[in-house]
Amino acid sequence: MDNLLNNTVIGLAAVVGGVVVLPRIRARFALSRAKHRSLAGHSRMAKRIARLIPFYEYSETEFFRVDDANEAVVEKRIAGLNVLSAYYERTYPRTASLTRQATEVISDLRFTGAYRVPYQFSRYLRSRLPSGSFLNSSTGVFVKDLDGNFFYDLTGSYGVNVLGYDFYKSCIAEGARRVENLGPVLGAYHPIVLDNAEKLKEISGLDEVSFHMSGTEAVMQAVRLARYHTGRKNLVRFCGAYHGWWDDVQPGIGNPMPPGKTYTLEDMSERSLCVLEERRDIACVLINPLQALHPNQPAPGDSALLDSSRTAKFDREAYTRWLKAIREVCTRRGIVMIMDEVFVGFRLAPGGAQEYFNVQADMVTYGKTLGGGLPIGVVCGRRDLMKRYRNDRPADICFARGTFNSHPYVMGAMQVFLERINEFDIRLIYSDADRLWNARVAELNARLESEGLPVHVENMSSICTISYTRASRYNWMFQYYLKAEGLMLSWVGTGRLIFSLNYSDADFSTVCTRLIQAARRMTWDGWWVETEMTNKQIKGQILGEIWRARRA
Ligand SMILES: Cc1ncc(COP(=O)(O)O)c(C=O)c1O
Repeated sequence: MDNLLNNTVIGLAAVVGGVVVLPRIRARFALSRAKHRSLAGHSRMAKRIARLIPFYEYSETEFFRVDDANEAVVEKRIAGLNVLSAYYERTYPRTASLTRQATEVISDLRFTGAYRVPYQFSRYLRSRLPSGSFLNSSTGVFVKDLDGNFFYDLTGSYGVNVLGYDFYKSCIAEGARRVENLGPVLGAYHPIVLDNAEKLKEISGLDEVSFHMSGTEAVMQAVRLARYHTGRKNLVRFCGAYHGWWDDVQPGIGNPMPPGKTYTLEDMSERSLCVLEERRDIACVLINPLQALHPNQPAPGDSALLDSSRTAKFDREAYTRWLKAIREVCTRRGIVMIMDEVFVGFRLAPGGAQEYFNVQADMVTYGKTLGGGLPIGVVCGRRDLMKRYRNDRPADICFARGTFNSHPYVMGAMQVFLERINEFDIRLIYSDADRLWNARVAELNARLESEGLPVHVENMSSICTISYTRASRYNWMFQYYLKAEGLMLSWVGTGRLIFSLNYSDADFSTVCTRLIQAARRMTWDGWWVETEMTNKQIKGQILGEIWRARRA
């Protein structure tokens, strides 16, 4: 009898194990396999490792010699930096002085100032080439600093500037005129809000719209709604993708409170599709189509430019196939597909990334340029997903507010923006954008190559990123030479150059000439030398430095 009982218990345990435990183990294993092998794919591990990295920095002597260059090269570097430093002092005195002052009180500036280049070089470089973070005017494709210097704007104002600053100035002025009688009244809507909502409905192919104040907020709301309606907790984001600075979409370095309900999966990978297919706890998949330019890599900032291994390659067809595969699995599994178009919406096409890649999401977030130059975040979604309450359980609501939502001035500028992008001349610009920017970048690369310069540009329409074709520890210096040539980059440096669509061929050609001149100067000044060193060896060298710094 005892035996029979034992056997029954063992049998039951085996069944339970088979039915309950094994699938869990399998699902866990599938999740692990769907992580990208880089540290960006292992957010927790990246955070742990980041905490182990000690501060150390190069002395003035080491600054010029970290790649063991010979003394003739070192002398060139010292002389080159002296010339550049004198030029900066002469040319940007007021802008640099105000920036120094502001850095004491504006935390954002203190952060961006420190993280323009790898931290080991940062302090000495700042003392020689102070950054300038103030401007006082913009016109055409130019911005002007406090010393009266004009720069070609390659910052794109973090992606807001798609159609040129004058375009947005007129959206803001005209928008303000349209709502001036109401003024800054909040709560009740200006009638323009409905017009904007109708237009966004049409553009997104979705049923309802909600207005927010930033892209981050829009993403928060889209995810919150997806969780509410699916009853599932987890969100999927792809390795390297930025979706704002909200906790749940930033599981890695930069967030002191890592979320517990975020899966970071490998972009463009069958294994990730398997996870979506098999797990039952996924509420939504967030997609930032900008990643098509550098799948699985984080935003390419120069502070991480330790060597020359940064790469990029945009393959529109492959990414389209990927999005369609996600679409299919999301439909099958009841997962909400959210296209986060905060960056690329209205840049790739007037209908955004959905039009460009020919895919229909369940929810779309927009931001940046859609505000016509003013702050904005928007969620568009299917009617069933946008609903914030349940008919059958009235106390179970999904709350979302925001004092400045649907601000009349933002709505006014947005209305003008949405009208203008429908005008013939702007439609024409959009229709030719891909061909034009591909041709321009190809020409630039041909010129760089013909001079043997170790710089290569990749683009996704008008968004460009620079990579370096020869191993070097000094690539981040390039941004300072570009500035001296009158090219304004954002604080992330050469990883992201954002052109507005009002760049003429002549403007672009001048930018190319200046970029090439900057690259020549980098070479003449000895920062890029022919070397036997590989990127792997550079990484090894830096690991050695970190190891020694930890033991010191
Ligand atoms: C794809 C994407 N989503 C969300 C955000 C966050 O938008 P915001 O900075 O307006 O909060 C950004 C900002 O760069 C973004 O690129």
